[in-house]
Amino acid sequence: MSRLSADGAFARQVYTRIAGYYDPLLWLFVPMGVRLGRYRAALVDGLALAPGDTVVDLGCGTGRNLPRLARAVGPAGRIIGVDVSAGMLERARRRADALGLDNVSLVQADFLQWAGPGRSVDAVCAALTLGMSGDYPVVIDRAAGWLRPGGRFGALEMQAPEGWPAWLVRAGVALNRVFGVRPEQITRRVDQALLARLTPVYHRYYYGGVFTLAVGCVDERTLPS
Ligand SMILES: C[S@@+](CC[C@H](N)C(=O)[O-])C[C@H]1O[C@@H](n2cnc3c(N)ncnc32)[C@H](O)[C@@H]1O
Repeated sequence: MSRLSADGAFARQVYTRIAGYYDPLLWLFVPMGVRLGRYRAALVDGLALAPGDTVVDLGCGTGRNLPRLARAVGPAGRIIGVDVSAGMLERARRRADALGLDNVSLVQADFLQWAGPGRSVDAVCAALTLGMSGDYPVVIDRAAGWLRPGGRFGALEMQAPEGWPAWLVRAGVALNRVFGVRPEQITRRVDQALLARLTPVYHRYYYGGVFTLAVGCVDERTLPS
């Protein structure tokens, strides 16, 4: 594995601990009305992938995005999942095997340090992961360098909506502490950083603004009319 940043080391520590029950933990959001599957579907749709495309899934975790990404790129496409936690990647590998996918490469790396695949990628997606580090703008800039002209970067994030009272922010952090969420994380604005750095394609809010989805591309000529 490449070098580890302080945030990468923290993420590895947290996710090594919870890798075995990350997927069941996500079920706890369902009775709260959080529709993560729907938000993930919108993220993958927003990438506008075509059969044969290559997509990088940053902080891929246990591979929750894999089924949708695999359907979008088809057997001729390629999915590169990057995560700092070997335990999470092991589950992603099991998921890929269970789906019979042989076009998934899994890389154990800190995405704050990872050199990346060169300018060869059609899309980058990041679900619930970029905001774990204050250096997310650097990752967005770096990932823009991996994308071919017209390539898209989509990020789904959880954040405290503007104007939330401090007690509610504290409650949100407490609820999500098991996922390594720290107070500073949910005040970060990954969506704004992405849309400022790339040409905006679209921006959505879910669950009253607690979840944001931003998609940008590297070439304004490819913007939909
Ligand atoms: C909340 S989980 C999200 C996993 C997956 N994207 C999903 O949607 O279910 C965050 C993931 O990001 C990974 N992660 C966090 N910071 C990272 C970093 N700096 N480099 C690589 N992976 C990181 C963690 O190991 C964890 O698997």
